Amino acid sequence: MTLDLRERPRRNRKSAAIRSACRETHLGPEHFIYPLFVHGGDDDIPITSMPGCRRLSVRGLMTELEEAVDAGVGMVALFPKIPDDLKDSVGTESHNPKGLIPDVLKRVKDRWPELMLVTDVALDPYSSDGHDGIVAPDGRILNDETVEVLCKQALAQAEAGADIIAPSDMMDGRVGAIRDALDDGGFTGVSILAYTAKYASAFYGPFREALDSAPRGGDKKTYQMDPANVREALREAGLDEDEGADMLMVKPAMAYLDVVSALRDASTLPIAAYQVSGEYAMFKAAAERGWLDERAVVLEMLTSIRRAGADIILSYYAKDASRWIAGS
Ligand code: PBG
Repeated sequence: MTLDLRERPRRNRKSAAIRSACRETHLGPEHFIYPLFVHGGDDDIPITSMPGCRRLSVRGLMTELEEAVDAGVGMVALFPKIPDDLKDSVGTESHNPKGLIPDVLKRVKDRWPELMLVTDVALDPYSSDGHDGIVAPDGRILNDETVEVLCKQALAQAEAGADIIAPSDMMDGRVGAIRDALDDGGFTGVSILAYTAKYASAFYGPFREALDSAPRGGDKKTYQMDPANVREALREAGLDEDEGADMLMVKPAMAYLDVVSALRDASTLPIAAYQVSGEYAMFKAAAERGWLDERAVVLEMLTSIRRAGADIILSYYAKDASRWIAGS
C-alpha cells in the first residue's frame, strides 16, 4: 500500500550525506574545556569514583596536556588538591602567589602559550571547613568577607597567566568585585566565566573525593541554588551580565538542560555547561558493566548539551570525545 503523504521527513534521513547536510548541531574539540586535577606529589593517583581521571603530578599533567592538545582541545580548567596542612579557615593558600596553581599556570603557559587556561575561584580546596566561603563560628557562610579573599585569589591566578577566571563559589557580587580587582591590577584582558547557575547538586560527590574538599559540616544550600529553580537562574544571569561576566555557566549539565536553554534565550553571552563528576561517573559505571555503549552515549549526551544551547562544555570526556569525533 502507499500512504497518501506529501510530507515524508524520512527523505532527509536517507543517507549519511543528507543527514550530515541537515545536521543542526555540531560538536567538536573547539567546544570543550577539559577539567584536570593536579597535586604537588610525584605520582598520578587514580580517583576511584572517576575511572580514567587522576590527581596528576605536574609531570603527569604535562603528559596529559600533550595528549589533549594533540586531540584538538584548546581550553583546560585546573583544580588543585591541597594537603591538609596548607588548609585554614580563611583559605589563605588560595592566594599564595607561589602556590600550586600559580606554579602550574606558569609552567603550562610557558609550554603552550595558545592553550586557554581556566582557573576555579572558590575557597573549598583550601578551606579547613571544605566550604567555598569563610565559615563564621555560628556556621553561616560570610559573603562579603569571602569575596575579598576571592579577589586576591583571582589576582594571583591572573598574575600567573590564567586566561579565564571562573568563580564557582556562588557568593553575591563576586563577579563585579573580581572584574574590578582584575581591571585595577591591569588584567583587563583576563576573562570571567561565571558559574551563574550552580546548583546544590548531589552530582558533585566524586569531585569532592578527587580534591578531598567535601564540607566538614553542613551543606552548600545557602549559596548554591535549589535544583527546583529556573527563574532564579535568570536572575543570577542578569546580575552576572551586569557585573561584567564574559560567559555564563550552568552546572551540572544533564539534569539542567532546560536551564541551559533558558539562559541561551535570555542572554547574548556565550553559555557554558559543566558535565560534572557525577555525570561522568554514571557513564563510566554503566559502561564498565557493559550496560551502555560508552562512546555512543557520551557523544549523544554532549551533542544534546550543545543542542540545548551551550556553546562550551566542560567535560572530563573532552580528550576522549575529541578523539572519538575525529574517528580515532
Ligand atoms: C568547587 C567546585 C565544585 C565543582 C567545581 N568547582 C564542587 C562543589 O561545589 O562542591 C564540581 C565539579 C564536578 O563535580 O565535576 N567550588
